[in-house]
Amino acid sequence: MARDQPVVAIYPGSFDPITKGHEDVARRSLRIADRLVVAVARTSTQAKGSLFSVEERLEMVQEVFQDDDRIEVCQFEGLLVDLAQEIGAQFVIRGLRAVSDFEYEFEMAQMNRELWSEAETVFLTPNQKYSFLSASLVREVSRLGGDVSPFVSEPVLRRLQRPSAE
Ligand code: PNS
Repeated sequence: MARDQPVVAIYPGSFDPITKGHEDVARRSLRIADRLVVAVARTSTQAKGSLFSVEERLEMVQEVFQDDDRIEVCQFEGLLVDLAQEIGAQFVIRGLRAVSDFEYEFEMAQMNRELWSEAETVFLTPNQKYSFLSASLVREVSRLGGDVSPFVSEPVLRRLQRPSAE
């Protein structure tokens, strides 16, 4: 299909911190989008306090994707649909790991469409090996001294190993 405009997608999340599951979803999205904007939310709908500041989360995402110039990173506060319209994103990417994710994701997708009728959400499933992985589990395992190196990339691991991240 010929396209005269690049397809831009937005991948919002807390990324506290970005995991290999997030990375996998982001890279997969480039099979259907020409450009991806990873949007790091200052606060999440489900936020219970974050481990990393938004600046640190942004830096980690930037470092993780520095090999791919089709991926940009920004931070945002306020409504996702406002940002999506501002940057000209045609769709929102979200990862769906299991049925348990569905209710929350469905509510957000529907609310976004109520707020902006053109909001389309595309759900991508990560590689099966990341289907159990979440940022909250990474935080917990790391805090309790477990090895999280299979689950996060080096820029994240480095920061998790700092004493201040406990
Ligand atoms: O990684 P998370 O915490 O599940 O991401 C949730 C996020 C940041 C995508 C969601 O909380 C969000 O879109 N926040 C922005 C505020 C907003 O637009 N809320 C209304 C849509 S549900």
